[in-house]
Amino acid sequence: MTAIRPVRKAVFPVAGLGTRFLPASKSVPKEMLTVVDMPVIQYAVNEAKAAGIEHFIFVTGRNKHVIEDHFDLQPELQNTLADRGKQDMLDVLATHQPEAGATSFTRQQAPLGLGHAVWCARDIVGDEPFALLLPDMVMKSRDGRECMESMMNVYRTSGGNVIGVQECHPDEVSSYGIVEQGETVAGGFRIDGMVEKPSKEDAPSNLYINGRYILQPEIFDLLENQERGAGGEIQLTDSMLRLADSQDFFGNIFTGETYDCGSKEGFIAANVSFALQRDDTGPAVREIIAKLMG
Ligand code: G1P
Repeated sequence: MTAIRPVRKAVFPVAGLGTRFLPASKSVPKEMLTVVDMPVIQYAVNEAKAAGIEHFIFVTGRNKHVIEDHFDLQPELQNTLADRGKQDMLDVLATHQPEAGATSFTRQQAPLGLGHAVWCARDIVGDEPFALLLPDMVMKSRDGRECMESMMNVYRTSGGNVIGVQECHPDEVSSYGIVEQGETVAGGFRIDGMVEKPSKEDAPSNLYINGRYILQPEIFDLLENQERGAGGEIQLTDSMLRLADSQDFFGNIFTGETYDCGSKEGFIAANVSFALQRDDTGPAVREIIAKLMG
């Protein structure tokens, strides 16, 4: 068996226009909208960091430069906070600050789909396995183990490619990539098939791809000549399906909660859920909601 190579880099596709969030997303990238007080993108970056990722690659687009600013130092702000003795706030900033040289930014020049966005990161990833996190999907673990960390644990014994999956309502299968469940392996199961946004009748299960992947670099060669699929876009799922001809794919079921912050309802649910959970906001928000519910 070939050695299982470590996963050091993570890719974050953040080029989407976010039309569902207009007018807010006209000048503020949807990934910078906040769930309580942290931008959506920071949740995915923190999840990757907790899973051992060392380098963070952002595939951005026009009008997204504020994401780059967010992950840079802000000396003026830091000096002001230091002058005012706000050590707690300086600590918050430090916790979320990637090290110098630990981020890379490239641009997806045209909105050709998720597969194309991932392909744009090929030179920065190079010839090694990588994690892929779709930042719209904000996750909250139940047991303290986050989705990517649990996938890494599977990967360390399985190798190959690992995909995060969750159950969805059968009516929702047409919104996601859906996998076909094969034999059980440690921490998950072998994936026997995948289909992007199937109809309810054609879906092989109700296990949807939840936006977390560990992929081998051979995916880039397949993405390079991938024909357009569902929605006329270059679909990552279609290339994964082709890669599955020669490599193993495993599914790891995430049992926590996932909020699709690419939709208004998911974004609001994430805000309510995280606000209720936090010590600083929980009690007051609980009271407000109780009052509103009458
Ligand atoms: C993408 C993937 C899909 C996955 C989903 C999760 O779809 O193509 O397989 O289930 O993300 O959010 P998109 O949301 O970009 O349409």
